[in-house]
Amino acid sequence: MAKHSADLVISGGRIIDPALGFGKEGHVFITNGCIDAVEGDTAAAKKRAVRAAETIDAAGQIVVPGLIDCHVHLREPGREDAETIESGCHAAAAGGFTTVCCMPNTTPRIDNQETVKFVQDRAKTARARVYVVGAITKNLDGKELAEIGDLVKMGAVAITDDGHYVQNPEIMRRALEYSKMFDIPVMDHAEDQYLVAGGVMNEGYESTRLGISGATSAAEEIAIERDVALCRMTGARLHIQHVSTARGVEAIRRAKEDGVRVTCEACPHHFILTDSLIGETFNTALRVNPPLRTQADVDAIIEGLVDGTIDVIASDHAPHSAESKDVVFDDAPPGMIGLELTLSLVKTYLIDKGYLTWAEAIRKMTTVPAMIFKLPHGTLEPGSEADITIIDPERKWTVKADGFHSKSSNSPFIGKRLVGRVTRTLLSGREVFAL
Ligand code: DOR
Repeated sequence: MAKHSADLVISGGRIIDPALGFGKEGHVFITNGCIDAVEGDTAAAKKRAVRAAETIDAAGQIVVPGLIDCHVHLREPGREDAETIESGCHAAAAGGFTTVCCMPNTTPRIDNQETVKFVQDRAKTARARVYVVGAITKNLDGKELAEIGDLVKMGAVAITDDGHYVQNPEIMRRALEYSKMFDIPVMDHAEDQYLVAGGVMNEGYESTRLGISGATSAAEEIAIERDVALCRMTGARLHIQHVSTARGVEAIRRAKEDGVRVTCEACPHHFILTDSLIGETFNTALRVNPPLRTQADVDAIIEGLVDGTIDVIASDHAPHSAESKDVVFDDAPPGMIGLELTLSLVKTYLIDKGYLTWAEAIRKMTTVPAMIFKLPHGTLEPGSEADITIIDPERKWTVKADGFHSKSSNSPFIGKRLVGRVTRTLLSGREVFAL
């Protein structure tokens, strides 16, 4: 019997879904906002495609499950001048992300059920799905655990004090123990604050040359080693955020070999940029936590991405208003935006340089974050919501300050020529972005 005709078919593109193990030209059939079928370019599929109510021609393009970014700052509530849930999700859609996990360092903090609910309500009309990551400690001040059970009950998919290290190991131990009861990961901003000691860039040759206070890479290494030990002891799940140092990568590699339940993410700026750029322009968009490191660290992060030590690519999208960044380097708040550039940066700096294949890169931005945070997305499996990203792999473009959908434009990549760009994003089969 012939299958019913679909509402929409995406035809002609190369479909890559690491979860399904699918990687060839074909057709994605969508009915009622859900994936109906994914089929190769067979005669039967072609015949069915012709009968679909609507067609998207993806010839020459790559069709992947909507991307997932597990590390995003949406700034609402509190800093709506820098970003709102609406603008941040518009930026997500423009970057091919249909699912984002938002960090709790808003004002007020996401450390209680009401704030979780506020974000969820605001996100209902947004162009991307928003999953909330709750706080580990009340007000993120590292002193008293937040009501973790309440946060999880409300829908928090993980906990973190992102932006701050949980300096007290006993509190971190208890956070891990609690998290285990709910089988959620604890996301770890691994930078020992005593060792950072107010440093605003990597401590080393460049910070010495420029006379800017440095933060030693040992701050990350020690923070990771401590939490790996607590993770081993508790048997909980630990997810190291934005790993930036060679020794940090090595510590995670060893922990994984030992069977510790640790995962981690890397951000584009940490596998592309080094601290040697700071002295060229003193561009405050280069001020980020953890800081940009050395070429040896960049090389180690790429190696970690290649050998699988680094599980996930995340943006750490951290919008800041132009006014707040328009200060001397030392005084600028840390962070750069990333949602709208991550996919193009991955293509230009990892895929085109031969470090990762398309399938490997997409896996770190779909299948794996979906697994870690238990999100029912990141695949084109029939029955799932039709969240789909279409990419022109060879589209060349130049990043422009006024081209962002984010409310902020604090990016050091402005002016860069990139290869590969998202051309269309669908959320439950509905177009939420088209170039
Ligand atoms: O650079 C950063 N900015 N790192 C963080 O951990 C926090 C973030 C922010 O909130 O701006």
